[in-house]
Amino acid sequence: MLDISGLNIFHGNIQVVWDLGLTVNEGEMVALIGPNGAGKSTTVETIVGLNRNATGSITFLGEHILGLHPYDIFKKGLALVPEKREIFPKMPVIENLLLGAGDRTDWEMSLQRLYNLFPILHEREQQMAGTLSGGEQQMLAIGRALMSEPKLLILDEPSTGLSPILVAQVFRSLERLGRGGTTILLLEQNVRHALELCERGYVLENGRIVLEGKTKNLMHEKHIQKAYLGI
Ligand SMILES: Nc1ncnc2c1ncn2[C@@H]1O[C@H](COP(=O)(O)OP(=O)(O)OP(=O)(O)O)[C@@H](O)[C@H]1O
Ligand SMILES: [Mg+2]
Repeated sequence: MLDISGLNIFHGNIQVVWDLGLTVNEGEMVALIGPNGAGKSTTVETIVGLNRNATGSITFLGEHILGLHPYDIFKKGLALVPEKREIFPKMPVIENLLLGAGDRTDWEMSLQRLYNLFPILHEREQQMAGTLSGGEQQMLAIGRALMSEPKLLILDEPSTGLSPILVAQVFRSLERLGRGGTTILLLEQNVRHALELCERGYVLENGRIVLEGKTKNLMHEKHIQKAYLGI
């Protein structure tokens, strides 16, 4: 579905990602893990067209997308839940969700499915988004992305700033989403949760992929255990 090879990314004149290769197959959940500043957000911002200062190849469903504008990439079925959530605090939950539907007219089914996944958003439908708890706001950000019925959903560190209980809640929702067939690329620093949830993973450090493979194998890598799992 998503196929990246030889990707180099720059901020101004400074290169921050080197020769990155990554694939996501349909129906798969894939983790991209790595420490602060590794280049995770930079990579997905490039995938969705927010940063076009890059060389290499990115194809989505067989089409080259590197260099396209964000809206054109979004239209092809690629949605990002950004690191900073970017919900509209002074608007009710329902209006935030409908913004995610864009110009789709057949959003009712999506909304019903979403409310099944996140019943709390149904309960809080009319509440101002800014008054939701951190975990609820994260669910809203995910929900808004789902309203576009994306073929690939990319999540940039959904566990950031959440208490362990809320992290577990968000990961349970992602698990249900994945079981429902949604294809997911998950960026995380919460390595344990990410490796448990996803089937395959990539480890990005200082702008380079240093390890990749099935998560059940990655969990047994010495480097992962020492650097990320505290074993
Ligand atoms: N707009 C920018 N201009 C210049 N440098 C940037 C910009 N955005 C990010 N960088 C730099 O690029 C590198 C990668 O940053 P990035 O945000 O992609 O890391 P990350 O893996 O997402 O980290 P985190 O887990 O902290 O979100 C960092 O060194 C960062 O300082
Ligand atoms: Mg980031």
